[in-house]
Amino acid sequence: MKSALLFALVAVLTSEAAKLPSTIKLCRKKDPNMNECLRASIKNAIREMKSGLPEIQLIPVDPLFMTKVTIQDGAGRPVNINLELNNVKNSGFSESDIEAARIDFDKHIIEADVFLKFSKLEADYVMNGKFLVLPIKGNGKCIMEFTGLNTTLRLRAEPMTRNGKSYWNVVYFGININSLQDLKINFDNLFNGDKLLSDSTNLVLNENWKQFWAELKPSFEETYAEAFLQLSKTVFGKVAENDIFLD
Ligand SMILES: *[C@@H]1O[C@H](CO)[C@@H](O)[C@H](O)[C@H]1NC(C)=O
Repeated sequence: MKSALLFALVAVLTSEAAKLPSTIKLCRKKDPNMNECLRASIKNAIREMKSGLPEIQLIPVDPLFMTKVTIQDGAGRPVNINLELNNVKNSGFSESDIEAARIDFDKHIIEADVFLKFSKLEADYVMNGKFLVLPIKGNGKCIMEFTGLNTTLRLRAEPMTRNGKSYWNVVYFGININSLQDLKINFDNLFNGDKLLSDSTNLVLNENWKQFWAELKPSFEETYAEAFLQLSKTVFGKVAENDIFLD
């Protein structure tokens, strides 16, 4: 009886501050090659997080499901295409290559240069607008395949104390997509399924993917930054600073 009670109490206490699984290689704060250790550690952690981490209630990151990505006028950013992506499935994030990482412990900032060889997005779409003077309209399934996505990610936190332990309260996550080597696009059921019009429009989109991507990029940076903000809030909010960056 006593031990059951004790066990329950321990469970409650530990549910507050969780630990990362031991398969994730952590870094010592005093590591003279901190940035290189961090680079390897982030790369390893992303792979370990692929299917989620139940111990900290982290959802799977590959595939990563998102409810919505919207590209539309607003926030002083006119677009020619209104595009709504629903039930978005992103595959490939766990294969990210971390080219470099930088940390500033005092400012609570982490930056990483991330290169993704290949990533696939599948979604339900609703689109209406103009592309290179061509009208474009439809709704159905769409697939986008990204090759050679070069990005810089930036996370900023504020120090927070809970039950005597220090945590990083992540308040900002930014994504800069520096370059993209190739984008393949397919929208099913354009123009109510008109095959000829649909095929020719997909062809035009693929031949001019750079212009199409220019329309999408700002919204993508914003929406994925918001998703990664939530993911990093989960990790840093559950695991104390000393259990991420070892003494
Ligand atoms: C990513 O972009 C940066 C800055 O343009 C560049 O230095 C780096 O070599 C690129 N990485 C890859 C893998 O292309």
